[in-house]
Amino acid sequence: MKSSKSAHVTWGGRFSAGPAELMLKFSESVSFDHRLAPFDIQGSKAQAAMLAHVGLITKAECKAIQKGLDQILHEVHAGEFKWDIRNEDVHMNIEQKLTERVPAAAKLHTARSRNDQVATDMRLFFKYACVQLGEKIVGAQRALLKAAEANADVLIPGYTHLQRAQPVFLAHHLFAWMEMLERDRQRFAEVFDHANWCPLGAGAFAGTTLPINREFTARELGFVDAKGRARVTQNSMDTVADRDVFLEFAGACAIAGVHFSRIAEDLIIWSSTEFNFISLPDAFCTGSSLMPQKKNPDSCELLRGKSARLQGNLHTLLTLVKGLPLTYNRDLQEDKPPVFDSFDQTALCADVLAGTLGRLTVKRERCAAAVADPALLATDMADYLVTKGVPFRQAHHAVGAVVKLAEQRGVALNELTDAEVAGVHPAYGPDWKDIFDLKRAMERRAGTGMPSPAQLRKQTARWRRILG
Ligand code: ARG
Repeated sequence: MKSSKSAHVTWGGRFSAGPAELMLKFSESVSFDHRLAPFDIQGSKAQAAMLAHVGLITKAECKAIQKGLDQILHEVHAGEFKWDIRNEDVHMNIEQKLTERVPAAAKLHTARSRNDQVATDMRLFFKYACVQLGEKIVGAQRALLKAAEANADVLIPGYTHLQRAQPVFLAHHLFAWMEMLERDRQRFAEVFDHANWCPLGAGAFAGTTLPINREFTARELGFVDAKGRARVTQNSMDTVADRDVFLEFAGACAIAGVHFSRIAEDLIIWSSTEFNFISLPDAFCTGSSLMPQKKNPDSCELLRGKSARLQGNLHTLLTLVKGLPLTYNRDLQEDKPPVFDSFDQTALCADVLAGTLGRLTVKRERCAAAVADPALLATDMADYLVTKGVPFRQAHHAVGAVVKLAEQRGVALNELTDAEVAGVHPAYGPDWKDIFDLKRAMERRAGTGMPSPAQLRKQTARWRRILG
């Protein structure tokens, strides 16, 4: 077995030989955690400031360390920083390079462990990621609002069991998606809040004997409440063992993914030749390599597919943490790839959804033809009887009989004669056909959350306000 030349790594003091090449390859994480560099540097700058504040390093040492860290950040952004798997992870790569250049950096890791360091980096990452995803979801919501406004007068059938059920404005359906996305946004805001506690100072898991100031570091890093008070984690063991925010973040991504997939599925159905309510933008579709006439809804199908991946990431994390003894275990290094993948894919999905929604065309005549089916107002026929004092169960039964009669006669519901309908139930008066005036039928659905034009105007105004 080949062994790497030296035990030069930061923890190498007690080792007489370095790890085997195979072990290096196996245990390195810098290939994926290098993207934490900006957060790691931010954390280290705050750590240096705190050490200077309490007198564990001098002001000059702090300045030299911070300057060196800024230089490294610059190199990272420019793609010039050389990551080396022999230094395992992002933390040691940066510290090693910094110490080569700035002797005082040998003091940076005072009262700190990679355990509280990685927890800090990740909490900073989560705060950043939640803001990013919130903004991307707003992008999709704005596209939805535009589509709703541009098609405010379009009616379509709403479905249960994928069977035509009752008429709704298309905008009402779009606003249902809007609510789903709004909850996703709120969920990311909540994850942000849960991430907003500073782990630094927990050390390996039992704190430190040195006189550090955790609140100072927390404030430096923006781990503060609405009043600017420092938020520091309250148990050093839990601090380095806890991965709840990872689970919550991946959970929020998985739920958003489920929402994207349901929206995508509706779009796929609507764009099929059988429905033909909409046409999806060419820019988000692809053709078939064999059948020249095909235009496939690939963006929507991938949104459906990606949701499986987001659920898988959540599952990976749950399984990773389950049954782990307190506190830190190296297993936890595997917590980062699923989190990063969930972030990247959720961001992509939100953008693709916004792009797809932003350019879809509504086929108004097809929608109008589909919603003209009088059977969609069968429930209104029952409500009519209720207003005449008939108990709903009896009314429901009577309308069933009317539907059956129309079927037998081979005519639409509203083509039966007054006598035929009154024959089924005497409460049907000469005005019964007014039920099928679609415009009035929609105006009657006037309660909060219902699809009347007045309610939709209210909701449109609400979303304009929320989305700015
Ligand atoms: N790369 C490690 C991780 O991501 C950092 C923490 C290492 N801590 C340790 N005790 N080995 O989990």
